[in-house]
Parts: sequence; C-alpha cells; structure tokens
Amino acid sequence: MDSFTLIIFGITGNLAQIKLIPALYDIEEKNLLPKETSIIGIARSPQSKEEFREYIKKVLTSENRHHQHAIKDEVFEKLFTRMHYLNGNLIDRNLYKKLSQFLSQLDSENKKLGNRIFYLATYPDLYDQIFQNLQSEKLNEQKNGWVRLMIEKPIGNDLKSAKDLNKLLLSYFREDQIYRLDHYLGKETLQNILAFRFGNGIFEPLLNKDHVDHIQITATEDFGIGKRGGYYDSVGALKDVGQNHLLQMLAFATMDAPTDYSDAALTKERVKILENLEVDPKNLVLGQYDGYLKEESVNPNSSTDTFFAFKTMIKNARFKGVPIYVRGGKKLSQTVTEISIIFKTPHNRLFKHLRSGTEPNVLIFRIQPNEGIVLKILVKKPGHRWELDPTYMQFCYRLGSDSHYFPDPYERLIFDAIKGDQTFFNNVEEVESEWKFIDPLAKSKTKVHSYNPGSWGPKEADQFIQKNGRYWLEPSMDFCAI
Ligand SMILES: NC(=O)c1ccc[n+]([C@@H]2O[C@H](COP(=O)([O-])OP(=O)(O)OC[C@H]3O[C@@H](n4cnc5c(N)ncnc54)[C@H](OP(=O)(O)O)[C@@H]3O)[C@@H](O)[C@H]2O)c1
Repeated sequence: MDSFTLIIFGITGNLAQIKLIPALYDIEEKNLLPKETSIIGIARSPQSKEEFREYIKKVLTSENRHHQHAIKDEVFEKLFTRMHYLNGNLIDRNLYKKLSQFLSQLDSENKKLGNRIFYLATYPDLYDQIFQNLQSEKLNEQKNGWVRLMIEKPIGNDLKSAKDLNKLLLSYFREDQIYRLDHYLGKETLQNILAFRFGNGIFEPLLNKDHVDHIQITATEDFGIGKRGGYYDSVGALKDVGQNHLLQMLAFATMDAPTDYSDAALTKERVKILENLEVDPKNLVLGQYDGYLKEESVNPNSSTDTFFAFKTMIKNARFKGVPIYVRGGKKLSQTVTEISIIFKTPHNRLFKHLRSGTEPNVLIFRIQPNEGIVLKILVKKPGHRWELDPTYMQFCYRLGSDSHYFPDPYERLIFDAIKGDQTFFNNVEEVESEWKFIDPLAKSKTKVHSYNPGSWGPKEADQFIQKNGRYWLEPSMDFCAI
C-alpha cells in the first residue's frame, strides 16, 4: 500500500475526538498504516508539539466511550511520531500556503509520493472556502499521487442543498476522489447481510413477495438529544437517521444480487432500490417526546420530530405489494437497531390450532446491540403432549471466549479510503435518491404527536400499522445475550 498524508480539518472537534483519533490508533495498533504515513491535524488555536501530544493522549485515554480499551505506549508513540499540528483559520489562504509547503517538506523528507486524504471534520458552511483554498494551492490536483476527500453526513439538508453540495464537490474533485461517509455502511453487522444473503443459497429464494408478508426496520434510542439541541432541532429524526442509516439498511436487506463483488455493482443495486421506493406523506407518523422543548438549545416552540414511522413499498416485481415499515427516534423504549423480515404463514400449516401455531417465522438482522442474525421458528416442546415453542436459531457475534472482533465503522472506513475502496461509501446518485425519497415526507405538513419518554412513540404509530392488520414487533433481547 502507498504511503500518504492524512489531513484532518477540525482535529480538535467532537468527531475527531470520539471517532477519528481512536480509529487511527486502532489502525496503527494493527500495523495497517504504511511506513511513511503522516497525519496533519488542523484547527485554529496555537498548540505546541507537547500540548498537541497531551491532547491526543487525553483523547485516547480519558473517559471516551468510543475507545474503551487501554492504549499501549509503543503504539501511541508510533502513531504520534506521524502526527503534526498546524494552526490557522480554514478560510485563510495563508494556511493553505503553509500546508502546501509542509506537505512538500514531508514528501521530500520521506521520499514519498504526494498521496493525500483530506478529511472534512468541520462545519459544512466552510466547505466552499476550503475547496477554493485547496485549489488555489493546487492541493486538489492529482499530479504526483492520488488525492481523496472524506466528507461526513449530512450531505445537504434536502434534495436541493444535497445537489448543490454534490455540484460543489464535483467542481473540485472527481467522483472517484470523493468518499461520502455514512458510518452505518462500515458496520460489520450491516455488511454481513451481504454475506448472509449472497454467500448462502437457501435464504435468497425466499426473499420475495411470495413468501414475505412485510418488513420492519427499527433504529431507536432510549436516550434524548443530550447537548446536540442546536443541531438536532434544525434537522429532526427523519433527516438525521431516516434519510441515511435507515434507508441504507432497507437497501441492504432488499437489493438484488450484484453481478459481482465490486463497488460499482453493489452501489448500482443499492441505488436501484432507493430510486424505486414509493413515497406518500399519508404513510408518515411524526412524534416529539414530552420534555423535548425544555432541552438545551431547543426552540421552546419547536415542532421538530424526535420520532418517525413510515410505510413504503418497492416498485419492482420481486417485492410488489410487500409493505416496509420503518421507524426511528429518541427517548424510546429501547436502544436497538434491526431489520425484521416477517414471513407469510401458509394456509396449510399443520399445528395451526395450537397456541403460537400461527406465529410467523421472522428473520432478524440485529445490527445492535446483541448483534446477530436469527431466525424465529416454532419447535415442539419436549413432552408427551403437542405444544409449540417459539424459539430462535441464531448466529451471534459475541458468544463464547473467541467472540468476534468488531472493527469500529470509522476504523473500517478510513482504512477503505486508504486502500481506495469506495464500496461502502455513498456516491452522488445514492445520496440524491435518498433525499428524493425523504424530501416529500420532510416537507409534508404532517402533524407531530407527543409521546411519553420510554414508550414506543406516539399511539398514532401503533394505529398506523394496525390499520393494515399488523403490529410493531417488540425487539427481543432473548437471543445473543451479551
Ligand atoms: N460529532 C459527531 O459525532 C459527528 C457525527 C457525524 C457527522 N459529523 C459531522 O462532522 C463535522 C464536524 O462535527 P463536530 O461535531 O466534530 O464539530 P465540532 O466539535 O464543532 O468541531 C469543529 C472543528 O472544526 C474546527 N474549526 C471550526 N471552524 C474553523 C475554522 N474557521 N478554521 C479552522 N478550524 C475550524 C474546530 O476547531 P477550533 O474551534 O479548535 O478552531 C473543530 O476542530 C460536521 O460536519 C458534523 O455534521 C459529526
């Protein structure tokens, strides 16, 4: 693998602290960084080398829920030897002159090519000026090596702004240089859906309208917005997680088999699903938890949604008429993310007369917590009488002493970007088709109902699914116990 320099715009920010620096440590610990790799962090306040060192160490050692394992001194030293800090204002052209000189110096000292990754861990309203400044120093040009740009969600706040941002990006970089990051795509549990569906032969023939009654996708949290009020209140749950993570889960669970395992083939199939989703604001329920209006930095008259539930269908022959119910939000009963595929109960099922005899089989992709893939089935209770017991056939990630190692999604995705692999990043069509679906929902004047913290959302969400003769599944914690 080629050596490169990673430049993080916003090294002192929250994202850098909770995700990027811990991920870089983990990549270093696994010896995955090419020998001459350098990392440059940029922010405004001046810091000496020693202060920067203290800062990085503190990020890796203090109460940081994203980096719980102890750090090894020798790994920290190896990582810090690669790290440099530059202070300056991202809107100031002089900073980029300084950066350009420093990059040339690092390249000549280490005899390396000019490979670079620019990571935008800073505010979207600075992007325009950052790109102009990079261009003024020709830092976006791939003259002596490759140049890549990593950019976080949100990509826009609606379809129009997403298109504007994509246009801006594409006026400075080529699509194959842009790594739009949705960290859900870096999750092992989401990627394993591909292995489960397309690496096995037995389940795929069942995933269609003949066998599937409906699909439920849930991503809920039992905690509130914390200190994110300023951001969250301008966005809401539907845009914050519905537009990206939940639609990605939907695409992974329902996409057709790609022609091969390649970025182009996988992305094409995901986009085909996203572009063929039926959207109807009548099939949307929004909610806001009681007490939200008293949260820090929230407008006391806010009608921002902290809960959403919607129904969609895929306009293709395979899933014609199969409803997909999607829900997400905050201060709900459980913190859980899963996809449940609920199968039809055949008319000629034996034992229908027994208790549980008509319960459907359910295939569950549990993304978090108690990660696994399980199939809910009925078995005979041991004994002289005929009684059925619903139980789970399960694959769990975290059972036993050899429990599987999970790379953090950021570790996984940064390493993919280093390798130049865009498979688990969003391209321009993908982001825009997500917004095409979400925009009419987000812009509808759907009433926002209140709900009790700790519940499963407003009662209207239950009524909404019940009118189709179905009910929300209570995510079970009975399998893959941690
Ligand atoms: N935090 C998350 O968990 C998260 C998750 C997903 C996506 N994101 C996205 O990631 C981006 C960063 O979010 P964040 O939460 O890390 O924000 P943040 O905590 O406010 O950090 C912003 C960073 O940008 C730097 N910065 C701001 N203005 C600057 C300027 N004019 N010149 C130089 N540096 C400047 C700040 O450094 P100084 O103030 O020290 O100069 C700081 O390092 C946002 O686009 C956000 O939407 C964040």
